[in-house]
Amino acid sequence: MIHFENVIKTYENQQALTGVTFHASRGELLFITGASGAGKSTLLKLIYRALEPEGGSISVNGIETCSMKTGHVPELRRSIGVVFQDFRLLSGRTVYDNVALALRIRGMAERALKAQVMEVLKMVGLRHKADCWPETLSGGEQQRAVIARAIVAEPVLLLADEPTGNLDPDTSAGVMRIFKEINSRGTTVIIATHNRDLYTGTGRRVLRIAGGRIEAESIG
Ligand SMILES: Nc1ncnc2c1ncn2[C@@H]1O[C@H](COP(=O)(O)OP(=O)(O)O)[C@@H](O)[C@H]1O
Ligand SMILES: [Mg+2]
Repeated sequence: MIHFENVIKTYENQQALTGVTFHASRGELLFITGASGAGKSTLLKLIYRALEPEGGSISVNGIETCSMKTGHVPELRRSIGVVFQDFRLLSGRTVYDNVALALRIRGMAERALKAQVMEVLKMVGLRHKADCWPETLSGGEQQRAVIARAIVAEPVLLLADEPTGNLDPDTSAGVMRIFKEINSRGTTVIIATHNRDLYTGTGRRVLRIAGGRIEAESIG
């Protein structure tokens, strides 16, 4: 599903990734960990092609993203769901509309999308909050709504950057259960986190970034 070969990413003369090589299989739930500033968010943004590397090669779902034409980037992104800090819910739109928007921009008709939106809201336990404004939800509920928006179009790949960053342990566990459920339905899931509680005991592969490269691989 994902192949990184010796990927180098530099910000203004500072190398964030100095040569990252890893593979993620289709259907895997993979953790990327490492200290703050290690390069976890940079790695996820490269997968989404929000950033381009200075060296190496990246392939996502069979596509070489470094050589792809700019016109094909939206198509790549439509196949990826993201839970990133900089993609918050839109205020002034209900939870329902926030989730529905992901289908509307794909041209789906209102009647067809309603069942899909309600199904995904049910899956994250927010069916009863469909008509609420984002501001009235708790942090955990907002994060679940963000996840619903990310998965409603059934992406082949889901990327989550510190998805439990501001959540208490119980709420975090609930969010992790949702990721496992999505993964069990066939979506490849990649979670970047500095919180070892998230992956400990999961039995899933954990890649640790340090010094700009994958320093260690273990099972959580
Ligand atoms: N837009 C940017 N401009 C300059 N430096 C950046 C930028 N984004 C990240 N960095 C730097 O790159 C390194 C890796 O950052 P990041 O990928 O955000 O790490 P992490 O997500 O693991 O905390 C850090 O040293 C950070 O300061
Ligand atoms: Mg980060």
